[in-house]
Amino acid sequence: MSSERERIPLSAPDLTQSEIDAVVEVLRSPSLSLGPKLGEFERALAAVAGTRHAVALSSGTAGLHVCLRAFGVGAGDEVITTPFSFIASANVALYEGARPVFVDVDADTLNLDASRVESSITARTRAILAVHAFGVPADMQPLRALASRHGLHLIEDACEALGGEVEGRRLGSLGDAGVFAFYPNKQITTGEGGALVTDDESLARRVAGLRNHGRDPSDPSRHAYLGFNYRLSDIQCALGLAQLQRLPEILERRREVARAYETRLRGVPGLVLPVDLGSSGSWFVYVVRLSEELDAADRDAIHDDLRERGIGCGRYFAPIHLHEFYRDAFGHRPGDFPVAEAAAERTLALPFFNRLQPAQIDEVCEFLAERIAARRGSR
Ligand SMILES: Cc1ncc(COP(=O)(O)O)c(C=O)c1O
Repeated sequence: MSSERERIPLSAPDLTQSEIDAVVEVLRSPSLSLGPKLGEFERALAAVAGTRHAVALSSGTAGLHVCLRAFGVGAGDEVITTPFSFIASANVALYEGARPVFVDVDADTLNLDASRVESSITARTRAILAVHAFGVPADMQPLRALASRHGLHLIEDACEALGGEVEGRRLGSLGDAGVFAFYPNKQITTGEGGALVTDDESLARRVAGLRNHGRDPSDPSRHAYLGFNYRLSDIQCALGLAQLQRLPEILERRREVARAYETRLRGVPGLVLPVDLGSSGSWFVYVVRLSEELDAADRDAIHDDLRERGIGCGRYFAPIHLHEFYRDAFGHRPGDFPVAEAAAERTLALPFFNRLQPAQIDEVCEFLAERIAARRGSR
């Protein structure tokens, strides 16, 4: 989050008059929730995701949660996922009494290492929950093959990857279901919000019911099963719709910012740049890593120097298995997932948003290179 002293924030939403007008239009209408904007937003999202259905929800976490519930994942079951993600990716399994089983990541993409997944599948495994961390596509093809061979559900946590493509297919449409999130640092925002996308009509129906207290859409007096209030208001849907209409422009701006960083930081000693997402990628954040010769103390010092200078930055992700309650519940220890841990100790998320200016990127890059050189020099 930006502080008063933060001259260059880590992230910033990009809202124009069209978003403000769209929200005001709903505020002047009688339908603030479960109105016409909900369906419009869902149809637009399905078109963007390349899926038959989209169900808008109150958050990305809600989307992942109802997805597991709809697939019948429950107590004693196991869900294979990555330790290098936002904590919600694993928490949703705990909500259902299931166990998140972590598998280490690939050192380049920082996503699930598909070659390690099969040995973690047991008789209790019900689903693979793959994350496209930072918008980098997870290795979906082998995961798809594994899921179908072992009869598992394949869920894409595409919360950070709206609009991204691999081999001509949109992220979120490559598994049995995909989930997006619309928090203000995301590619598009609804303030808070999320959505599940799928080609499976019965899944979409089930999720739409779970979103609204298990209510039968054709008979509102009937609550057929236990549900939640995970609705997204029409105010939020209108905001999301206006943002979606600008998605191609938004994604291109983000690619430009990523290219600007790449040009300035390429060749800086002691730095590892993120994988290039190419012309159809969807950048969520710009996360660099310090090289192996530097360590967590160097990263923390550089992080603090950047903050001191008024430059927003982040240290994500802290590996999920090392958060206190995961250690307590499952006995995880440092060293359990060494690839994820080595990366996590060295990451630095730099300011990244649509309207980041070239002069600001210059300042960030020059200061970062200087601080890295100072840490290397002091070794
Ligand atoms: C990878 C990932 N999964 C899940 C979520 C949860 O989304 P939300 O914050 O909308 O609940 C996020 C949000 O930051 C995320 O980045």
